[in-house]
Amino acid sequence: MKAELQGIKAEAEDELRRIGSPDELETLRVKYLGRKGILSELLAKIPSLPAEQRPEMGRLLNELKKDITSRYEGAKTALLDMQRPKAVGPVQDVTLPGRRPPLGHKHPLIQTIEDIKDIFADMGFQVAFGPEVELEFYNFEALNIPLDHPSRDDFDTFYLKDDVLLRSQTSTVQIRIMEKQRPPIRIIAPGKVFRPDTVDATHSFMFHQIEGLMVEEGVTFGHLKGVLALFAQAYFGPDTRMRFRPSFFPFTEPSAEVEISCSLCKGKGCSTCGSGWMEILGAGMVDPNVFKAVGYDAEKYTGFAFGMGVERIAMLKYGIDDIRLFFENDMRFLSQF
Ligand code: PHE
Repeated sequence: MKAELQGIKAEAEDELRRIGSPDELETLRVKYLGRKGILSELLAKIPSLPAEQRPEMGRLLNELKKDITSRYEGAKTALLDMQRPKAVGPVQDVTLPGRRPPLGHKHPLIQTIEDIKDIFADMGFQVAFGPEVELEFYNFEALNIPLDHPSRDDFDTFYLKDDVLLRSQTSTVQIRIMEKQRPPIRIIAPGKVFRPDTVDATHSFMFHQIEGLMVEEGVTFGHLKGVLALFAQAYFGPDTRMRFRPSFFPFTEPSAEVEISCSLCKGKGCSTCGSGWMEILGAGMVDPNVFKAVGYDAEKYTGFAFGMGVERIAMLKYGIDDIRLFFENDMRFLSQF
């Protein structure tokens, strides 16, 4: 009977290897494991065996049953696997909506520069640029600031070499443009400037300015006031008032500091402006010495120039109280614009 069991085992294994469909598998199950299957029949024969053979035969039969059952289960999973449709590559649901990449926008300083540029463009001003790394001549001498003049301190900067420096004002672009072009000239020049200032809420070693220059025959202080008044009202709102206070710049004469009524409190006085007035820029009539430096006839031409700090303008417009916010790349700040 032992030999018979081994024969059954080999036969069952062979048949299981050849299974090709669920029907065949089921037939096989009934044949070996079914209630009237081969194994049940053998089990039924045990009581008729001699008593000393019975336990051993029982054990062998049980082992065979376990073996065939586990092979049967294995063949069943293999069949199921074969029937499942196979995906090619990673499974993708093409009906899912796409992942939108976050959309950036212009930095508030660039937006401010563009807003200001648009206003002056409407008045016929063109945009001009000059280098950030400058010769001493353009930052100082040509702007009527001789080496030993105390006002040089106001425009102190970082030196790279003896006469090469980082410009501390965009007024350098006035000279560069006038050297190349003859009047009439109407330009604004935005860009970075550098000063050895300790960083705090209102100071930075780098900030942005926008320079303005208009030169032609017959330009007066009245034109300066008119142009700046139009700008202030266009940028800060139609009820903005403006006032000029006498000041000094080596490259303009006379010179003025220009203030507007506070756009936040409408001139009543608040924590941003204090007095109700906010200084927005420096300006004046181009000094004849500047015309001399670029070879213009100071008897024939007159002109005005102005310069404003972009960060300051943006801070006043939006009520921002710390200049460092512009440079920290904090999305919580930047995404508000
Ligand atoms: N360059 C001056 C500054 O940096 C501003 C200015 C420009 C003043 C043009 C008068 C005319 O403060």
